Amino acid sequence: MRILITGGAGYIGSHTAFVLLEKGHDVTVFDNFATSTRISLDRVERLAGRTVSCIEGDLRDRPAVAAAVHEAKPAAVVHFAGLKSVGESTARPLLYVANNVSGTVNLLDAMDAAGVRRFIFSSSATVYGAAGEGPCAEEDPLAVTNPYGRTKLMVEEILRDLAASDARWGIAVLRYFNPVGAHESGSLGEAPQGTPSNLVPLVGQVAAGTRAHVDVYGGDYPTRDGTGVRDYIHVMDLAAGHLAALERVLGLSGVGTWNLGTGRGHSVLEIIRTYAKVSRREIPYRVVGRRDGDVATSRADVAKARRELGWRARRGLLEMIEDHWRWQSLNPSGYRS
Ligand code: NAD
Ligand code: UD1
Repeated sequence: MRILITGGAGYIGSHTAFVLLEKGHDVTVFDNFATSTRISLDRVERLAGRTVSCIEGDLRDRPAVAAAVHEAKPAAVVHFAGLKSVGESTARPLLYVANNVSGTVNLLDAMDAAGVRRFIFSSSATVYGAAGEGPCAEEDPLAVTNPYGRTKLMVEEILRDLAASDARWGIAVLRYFNPVGAHESGSLGEAPQGTPSNLVPLVGQVAAGTRAHVDVYGGDYPTRDGTGVRDYIHVMDLAAGHLAALERVLGLSGVGTWNLGTGRGHSVLEIIRTYAKVSRREIPYRVVGRRDGDVATSRADVAKARRELGWRARRGLLEMIEDHWRWQSLNPSGYRS
């Protein structure tokens, strides 16, 4: 099948493109390279030994989106493209609505016009808000605390309305927990622009010596060591989750929502300790105040994905950190090194 991947040059999109190519699917990427480069796609092609069709374009450009869907004639669309910085979304909410909400509406319109109604959407655990101690299940109440999260929730709701209006749509909403790690070769990975805001890329830079220390945001959470607990998931497991969702969505009428996580939680200090062990470097840190909008614990209930997608995460924390360290060591400046 030909699959159109929006945002396919980005972190999760590039790993998913590789997994789909390996499975024998053809891939067309639609991307404006706002937060990525073409080099990731060159690496995907080299790793897979297959070519990727690439259309440079912006989701906000309706005719460009319509032309891309028409040209690719995909069996399904995997929609990663969008902006994901919580801080930036608070400063520039309209930019986030334009890219993440209006851009998605343009894409859905173009798909409908072309008769393509199989859709996989990148949502986020952020839609659960401050969920509390236990694991989050798909039917739990949703609450968002920032403009980025609101764009994800808005699109989820639009998708539910769309599927209710027309039974020909088959839609997978995937709520990712904390994607980390890299392809095991060290040639694909996460290349944040500027100072990373996520924990693992930051810790990696401290291990590599390009940053002096890690600020640990909060040491007084009601968790086992006082630091925030998250459900980290290896990006290759996440990519495999998209393959499972693709197979499921082909025979689906309506919307299916699935958490993609491991179900296990790790604290900030555990991440730092594991990274120090893997890299054999000292990782200085200091505990500072909590970051606005952070929650104590975020962990997935993964039973539904296991049951309905036949998927589960296979890689543990050690593999996530080993693969991140390999990527970090081989590409100290991301794809530009
Ligand atoms: P990323 O920034 O690496 O990739 C996003 C890609 O989309 C980039 O290649 C970028 O150039 C492209 N893009 C952005 N705006 C576009 C537009 N208007 N038109 C065309 N292309 C555009 O991010 P990622 O980590 O790979 O995330 C992919 C998706 O998963 C995003 O929707 C994100 O919100 C969601 N998500 C990510 C995480 C995470 O921790 N990485 C967690 C939950 C959900
Ligand atoms: C953040 C976003 C979330 C987004 C997710 C994936 C916020 C408030 N939330 O989630 O919406 O879906 O990234 O991109 O930005 N930490 C430190 N020091 C640091 C960085 C992080 O102690 O320098 C801690 C955090 O407090 C948290 C954990 O590390 O406990 C993980 O943080 P991060 O990687 O930023 O992910 P989230 O906060 O879970």
